[in-house]
Amino acid sequence: MSRHSDDHYWILETQTSAYVFGLNQHGRLVHAYWGPRLPRRSDYPPPPDPPGLSSFDPADTCTPEEYPAAGGTRYGEPCLKVSFPDGARSTDLRFISARQDDDTQGWVITLRDAVYPLWVELHYRIHSQLDLIERWVVLRNTGPHPVTVERVFSAVWHLPRFETGCRLSHLAGRWADEFRLVREPVYDGTKIIESRRGTTSHQASPWFAVDSGCAAEDSGPVWFGTLAWSGSWKICAEQPPRAAPRISLGINDWDFALQLSPGERYAAPPCLAGYTPGGFGAASRALHHFIRARLPHAGAAHKILYNSWEATLFDVDEASQKQLAEIAAGLGVELFVLDDGWFRGRRSDSAGLGDWQPDPLKFPTGLGGLAGYVNQLGMDFGLWIEPEMVNPNSDLYRAHPDWVLHYPQRPRTEARNQLVLNFARADVQEYMIETIDRLLNSAPIAFIKWDMNRNFSEPGWPAAGERQREIWLRYVEGLYRVWGELAHRHPQVTWQSCSGGGGRADLAVLRLADQIWTSDNTEATARLRIQEGFSQLFPAAVMEAWVTDMGAPLIPLEFRFHAAMCGSLGLGGNLLHWTGAERETARRLIAQYKDIRAVIQSGDQYRLRSAQENAFSALQYTAPDGSEAVLFAFRTFLPEPAEIPVLHLRGLDPGALYLVDGFSQPRSGLAWMLDGLHLELGNFCSTLRRIYKIED
Ligand code: DGJ
Repeated sequence: MSRHSDDHYWILETQTSAYVFGLNQHGRLVHAYWGPRLPRRSDYPPPPDPPGLSSFDPADTCTPEEYPAAGGTRYGEPCLKVSFPDGARSTDLRFISARQDDDTQGWVITLRDAVYPLWVELHYRIHSQLDLIERWVVLRNTGPHPVTVERVFSAVWHLPRFETGCRLSHLAGRWADEFRLVREPVYDGTKIIESRRGTTSHQASPWFAVDSGCAAEDSGPVWFGTLAWSGSWKICAEQPPRAAPRISLGINDWDFALQLSPGERYAAPPCLAGYTPGGFGAASRALHHFIRARLPHAGAAHKILYNSWEATLFDVDEASQKQLAEIAAGLGVELFVLDDGWFRGRRSDSAGLGDWQPDPLKFPTGLGGLAGYVNQLGMDFGLWIEPEMVNPNSDLYRAHPDWVLHYPQRPRTEARNQLVLNFARADVQEYMIETIDRLLNSAPIAFIKWDMNRNFSEPGWPAAGERQREIWLRYVEGLYRVWGELAHRHPQVTWQSCSGGGGRADLAVLRLADQIWTSDNTEATARLRIQEGFSQLFPAAVMEAWVTDMGAPLIPLEFRFHAAMCGSLGLGGNLLHWTGAERETARRLIAQYKDIRAVIQSGDQYRLRSAQENAFSALQYTAPDGSEAVLFAFRTFLPEPAEIPVLHLRGLDPGALYLVDGFSQPRSGLAWMLDGLHLELGNFCSTLRRIYKIED
């Protein structure tokens, strides 16, 4: 890693990439270069200073500014849009100073409006080993009047001009169908992907990858990035006519206004981006490394859990859960999770949310009876909660109807019979911290699944007066505060982020949670596709996956296990109905998962053959030292005669000798990678092969 600056020219170098910006001759802070690290400092181009083409294509619009603010003749997507008290709605940012930041190994560049005392700090942190750059921005108002911030993006990432056009990869979807990988050209204009829902969303993810249209899984230059934010967000992918494309991203400005009072400052969430010459797979692995290293319990193996939600829905009580717990323990499960339905008045989704005490009819001795029994069986005990929500049919709502998001004169739209508690309010935050704290003290709870089963509507916050539009920000900050405080008070708890499946999956929530419940769709063949999309950004360790009864008997139990073993394994079927033979299969595969989970949860993932369009797909996980690997292959339906393609292994030590389960002949890593191997698989069959290094 190195960082240089002279003549107001900054070169941020990671191990193999470089990101360069500087002041151009007009004193504007502009982007100069982002790509492979070059041998000499003089190799990098000077800060561009394009003249503009016409009065309609002015220099302001053609200049790749490092942090463009709306104003002057800038017609592209700005990062910043501010209204000043005198009615001025343009900003004119000028360079003031730069300082090295030893904490971040990067730079802080300070800009200020030419007239108004509005300051903008651009922060850069270098993650050299991973070839990643992290950026965020801090605004400060040192004037005597408030200013209104209508957009504050975290960054714009300028890309090279691709001769072949710019291709954008992103993740689209819907409930039970999240993380669908989309690759599409960006034509002239702006492509927007966003969430306006108050959460990260099932419909889109704050992640992008850009290439020239020629990159592949294992090769080709890819620029990629993501935003660490769990609320509404926006990505603008712009292809200006005959110019270089750019991607800007940040908190969504839809219905947004942030008031910066005199003396106030605001730090926008960080975003992370990288360049790799190694294709989409290398881009994912860099993000996986980054995320894994920062999980709250980084490095700890995730326990194999059982959760009866799909089997029993709300029909839970102490006796029936104990029965399931006994079977689960006998199979080798390590963590037993009690899902929805355990609290006061909860018989269906129409009542109870908000009243976080055990239902006395279902759990007469509280949660302690079940939790203690689960512990005696040798398992940890975990619990489902949904703290941000309230059913109108609950004591909490009857006591505090004003605690939900609402507009006083409008009906409150329910979804799944529930309303959203206003986590922006300090009193709601305090109440929920104390309530969940009491719950966590009431029984030996080692795991919490934190759910959120609807998006915002009527996002009103009457008590906030003129600052109501800050709800999009303050709600999420409130969520982080409540969750963070609970995590601080209960460091033994492992948290899982869930929002009706993968509706709250982002880098920021993974500072609180170690896992994400990937999707409510647990049908294994659908999961292969969902999991592959998820893996673009997230490592296997955070991908909670259950073996359920969905798809049975067409999809064999072993196939369902193999699909779930590609992530953090859990079970969610009705164990009471599993036959002796099925339980034996489960016992065997759970034991096998325990043997290989270190490789899956901490190893490098290689997507050998995509499940997006292929009926035959494969994945490989390789231990960081290359000493062992695990290969999964899946065949859904291929008409006969079927041609199963050769698989080329990845990430092995080329000169070392490896043995692959099912093949008697050891071969060098290079041979397995170049010549590959061929597997025979029937329809709806899968295989798991371990790969061992037997000689260096
Ligand atoms: C949605 C989650 O994704 C499910 O796994 C389950 O916990 C239900 N909520 C419970 O209401």
